[in-house]
Amino acid sequence: MVAQIISGLAVAQDVKERVKKAVEDLKASGITPCLATVLVGDDPASATYVNSKQKTAKELGIATRDHRLAATFKQHELLELVQLLNNDPEVHGILVQLPLPKHIDEFAIINTISPLKDVDGLTPYSAGMLQNGMALLKPCTPSGVMELFDYYKITLEGKDAVIINRSNLVGKPLVFMLLERNATVTVCHSRTKELAARLRQADIIITAVGNRERFTLTADMVKEGAVVIDVATSRISGKLAGDADFEAVKQKASWITPVPGGVGPMTIAMLMKNTVSAASVLRG
Ligand code: GUN
Repeated sequence: MVAQIISGLAVAQDVKERVKKAVEDLKASGITPCLATVLVGDDPASATYVNSKQKTAKELGIATRDHRLAATFKQHELLELVQLLNNDPEVHGILVQLPLPKHIDEFAIINTISPLKDVDGLTPYSAGMLQNGMALLKPCTPSGVMELFDYYKITLEGKDAVIINRSNLVGKPLVFMLLERNATVTVCHSRTKELAARLRQADIIITAVGNRERFTLTADMVKEGAVVIDVATSRISGKLAGDADFEAVKQKASWITPVPGGVGPMTIAMLMKNTVSAASVLRG
């Protein structure tokens, strides 16, 4: 079997067109959705992500605030900034780019973001709502993965899904999203025994390791006809790649996401969608 390619670029474009229209409607009713991004420090990858988020927001007519702070910015100063944004009626979404510098308590910062403005879906409130199947704002990368399944009509009911990632950003939210769709979910991580054997049982593999020296998803780990969603971005001799040995895995899977052009573009599109959802709540 040769896999069909899941084009995150095409699906993200589709989502962004719908968001653009929703932004126009909101503006017509007197609300201009506004996304505030906060970047602390000078990590080049984080800066690139934030630049893309700012650029996409502007393209869709979403207003933005762009806070870029030195790596020495203090925790209490960051807490004050988040509070300021919480209390600013013109701001609908707050995104604090992670990771934060070591001297800052990431949980304390995330926990200060108003759940109403939590467009990253990372606050404990949003996480709890997601567990209960009640969340309005869900983490962007996992939502993007679900959007890909829906767009390509890949069914999840009764399927064995194996996730390789247990982070708050990706693995944990995916558990609840997949359970909601009646998949059977296994979460694997660095200490999992018999990883390859577990993967070979999977109808759906969602991999997000991001370090090809530690882990490569090879064709022998993939069941014939499995769906492979590659959330990772790493580099092989300077070239962007995911966890999967793409060309080999493509020969066995039924569907596969490329890297780049797979899940990546979806994360930003879903952030824009969340920003519009946060702003829409005001309209009632
Ligand atoms: N760092 C890597 N991915 C993300 C994300 O989706 N949101 C935030 N805030 N930080 C990240």
